[in-house]
Amino acid sequence: FLQGFRRDAHPMAVLTGLVGALSAFYHDSTDITNPHHRHVSAIRLIAKLPTLVAMAYKYFIGQPYIYPQNDLSYTGNFLRMMFATPCEDYKVNEVVERALDRIFILHADHEQNASTSTVRLCGSSGTNPFAAIAAGVACLWGPAHGGANEACLQMLEELQANGGVAKVGEFMEKVKDKNSGVRLMGFGHRVYKNYDPRAKLMQETCKEVLTALGLQDDPLFKLAMELERIALEDQYFVDRKLYPNVDFYSGIVQRAIGIPTSMFTAIFALARTVGWIAQWDEMLSDPEYKIGRPRQLYTGAAPRDIK
Ligand SMILES: CC(C)(COP(=O)(O)OP(=O)(O)OC[C@H]1O[C@@H](n2cnc3c(N)ncnc32)[C@H](O)[C@@H]1OP(=O)(O)O)[C@@H](O)C(=O)NCCC(=O)NCCS
Repeated sequence: FLQGFRRDAHPMAVLTGLVGALSAFYHDSTDITNPHHRHVSAIRLIAKLPTLVAMAYKYFIGQPYIYPQNDLSYTGNFLRMMFATPCEDYKVNEVVERALDRIFILHADHEQNASTSTVRLCGSSGTNPFAAIAAGVACLWGPAHGGANEACLQMLEELQANGGVAKVGEFMEKVKDKNSGVRLMGFGHRVYKNYDPRAKLMQETCKEVLTALGLQDDPLFKLAMELERIALEDQYFVDRKLYPNVDFYSGIVQRAIGIPTSMFTAIFALARTVGWIAQWDEMLSDPEYKIGRPRQLYTGAAPRDIK
């Protein structure tokens, strides 16, 4: 099935298709009124996502797929499927495994974000679980949702190409200038106005991973740390309570592990599947659940005479 996609298809395009297509293969778990079916499909989705994400990646880079290995942990198995090749096995590094595990846990659920609401609304029609989760993957794909850590790394790469640490001061002036349209990606949060509690944990993990992999001196990481230092002291950021968010660090950690930016959103989807499916199941278990139906208020022109 996977081989029907173009080689240059974005991994998220492939993943959206693969997740939806699971409904064509698992007819024995799509009766959404049956709690056992719901449980089985939840396990299938959570168990298969790492394999599908790794397959989408291997297909994209033109390498053979690596099959899952049952004696590894959930995260260790995923790392191996991503990075082993038929001619070289991947030895799971414990620090890296713990870091990615933390990324998975921190991204598992986050109340009514856009993709979770999408899964609930889609699932409320009574569609099968694979179709509902595919809707969540599609929603997450958008840059305003799942793409923030990718945007953050792109910003760091551009800044590095334009002079790196020496130009941080100049860049910060642009960020503070309302007319420039430039924002410091990875800073600020719509809900967390004091500190994103997930960011504190990711900051710790980030330092652990960089040290374990001997990357403390990598210019891009040095640049990120310098941006963090300046922003935390700068009055503009202090006054507006703009702190680094989880995406600032998770992008850096994933890059250190060797995950390309084009895979960040797919990895986010893998982690968020746990929250999506839990929310979907919770909704369907409620005896009072009904199809979701947001209303629309018309605010356009009043009746006009068109004669
Ligand atoms: C996440 C985000 C959309 C939250 O936005 P918000 O809660 O609506 O905050 P606002 O846009 O109202 O910003 C409040 C003030 O802080 C400034 N601000 C917010 N985030 C900023 C950033 N990342 N860089 C520079 N200034 C920022 C705004 O310009 C505004 O300044 P003003 O009061 O002088 O007008 C915003 O902080 C942002 O764009 N961050 C960068 C993208 C990012 O990391 N997203 C991932 C979130 S997990």
